[in-house]
Amino acid sequence: MDLDVDGVGQAVGTGAVPAGPRIDDLLVRAHEHAARHREGAVADYIPILADADPEAFGLCVADVEGGLHERGDTRTAFSIQSISKAFVYALLSEAFGHERVLEVVGVNNTGLAFDSVVAIELNDGHPMNPMVNAGALATTALMPGDTAQELWDAVRDGLSRFAGRALEVDHEVYRCEAATNHRNRAIAQLLESYGRIERDPLVVVDVYTRQCALRVDARDLAVMGATLADGGVNPVTGERVVSADVCRDALAVLAASGLYERSGEWLFEIGLPGKSGVAGGLVTVAPGKAGIGAYAPRLDAAGNSVRGQIATAYLSRALGLNVFASDPHVPGGKP
Ligand code: DON
Repeated sequence: MDLDVDGVGQAVGTGAVPAGPRIDDLLVRAHEHAARHREGAVADYIPILADADPEAFGLCVADVEGGLHERGDTRTAFSIQSISKAFVYALLSEAFGHERVLEVVGVNNTGLAFDSVVAIELNDGHPMNPMVNAGALATTALMPGDTAQELWDAVRDGLSRFAGRALEVDHEVYRCEAATNHRNRAIAQLLESYGRIERDPLVVVDVYTRQCALRVDARDLAVMGATLADGGVNPVTGERVVSADVCRDALAVLAASGLYERSGEWLFEIGLPGKSGVAGGLVTVAPGKAGIGAYAPRLDAAGNSVRGQIATAYLSRALGLNVFASDPHVPGGKP
């Protein structure tokens, strides 16, 4: 995909995010720039997603000081979908520890679609990474809780702490997904056949389906991302949600697999960990600096928001967020 950033100079910023007014100014420009793009298609595998306004477009930057910068439809609610995977993974890492999540869920990109069954078969039933559906189901299955209700409470309460407010399920999205999620049920049962899921796989799929149906807006995604950028402390509420080590691990996983089989291209162009969802949400994390939340429901062929990617690419360049960008060291400081 052409991210349309050829004319945007690569700023380099290895310290703090620029001051608020500079962010506001670049946010307006990034929004205007990406709003010109009408490529891609709204997800239509369930009617409720197909009904989304294709022109809706919200962009929010939440910095680690708790500053919120918003442009466009940042308060339009949509289902979090696959973006939930990143945050449930962080919660599991907190509960389970670095070594065990590495072994049981994995961290390597499959190079295949997010709902691939072939990837499971090719890897002896190993789910490979927590961003594809197999790994996300394995992750949700390992969350604490003896009953289905306790499992769901752990997931919803944890995601709500990232957002800094109580997140609610979109019941229509949940109903439509639950009626059509045969593939996810098959994936969970396949994992069970390999001994990779120890709970009832249909309970796991149900909790996963609910977690994907949680309603968020672009501002929530920015705050959730900013919590991962801020060593695990939500910069708006001040609450510690996960440890700094967990943030580091979760961001490494997002960098490798957050945009599925397009993760390499994304990292090459944007240079930041990110995670997309099929309803049009996109969260991006600039470690130590900020979270970026975007909502625009037209998707590319891999299921990633087109305007969200273009606006984020613009902000990454213009705000100097790319973690791989540097200037040569000048002895004694900048000239
Ligand atoms: O599990 C699923 O298939 C959907 N509820 C979520 C998929 C999704 O968001 C894929 N991302 N782009």
